[in-house]
Amino acid sequence: MLLGVNIDHVATLRNARGGIEPDVITAARICKVCNVASITTHLREDRRHIKDSDVEAIRMLPRTRLNLEMAMTKEMQEIALRLRPHAVCIVPEKRQEITTEGGLDVAGQIDWAIEFTKPLLEKNIEVSFFIDPDVRQIAAVSKTGAPFIELHTGTYSEVYGTPEEEKAFQDLKGAALFAQNLGLKVNAGHGLNYQNVHRMHEIPNLVELNIGHSIISRAIFVGLEQAIKEMKALCDGKID
Ligand code: PXP
Repeated sequence: MLLGVNIDHVATLRNARGGIEPDVITAARICKVCNVASITTHLREDRRHIKDSDVEAIRMLPRTRLNLEMAMTKEMQEIALRLRPHAVCIVPEKRQEITTEGGLDVAGQIDWAIEFTKPLLEKNIEVSFFIDPDVRQIAAVSKTGAPFIELHTGTYSEVYGTPEEEKAFQDLKGAALFAQNLGLKVNAGHGLNYQNVHRMHEIPNLVELNIGHSIISRAIFVGLEQAIKEMKALCDGKID
């Protein structure tokens, strides 16, 4: 499985003091040194961590695959069409939330989802919808023309190691197989960490995992390069 590293929390720390440290672009360069598949950033409506100038600078880095997470708004669509990242992952967004809570309701706004996706695909941007493991949502994404879904692994991550783990895991696996049968490619992310990520190998043909919080947290103790290398080894199935 490929690893996309979400570097939003580097910006969170930087913004805590309003200065320039730690530098988000240095973090992106370290991700590149580690050969990660994507650098993921969520440009939130309130710009609470990553800022427009960060996204623009990452986009300018040579041979870097930028995965831009964003809400399904006109403003974000315009930014994506101007910047042309490799990929966009369309996520729900609520101002009060601490982090993305739950997947996007694509089925409930299918006409807007189709209209939103079309110009992005025309610019050869890979489009993915961040959704819960729910067949209704998967079927809706398949109508938009987007080639990818990203399955929300938040519930699995929360209940990992408890009696509810198996159900949460089987929900993810069933959803991935359902999506793949419809011709969709499947990524996953949210809440994955060094302990719980191993079960993602039990889901056939997952393409990419997007992981942020646990990597940046571990980086405080071992450094970013080491933290990424350890997670990459887990994604590659090199360590149990
Ligand atoms: N994927 C999506 C769509 C997200 O919104 C997030 C959180 O920003 C992640 C992956 C990464 O989640 P975490 O930081 O919990 O690893």
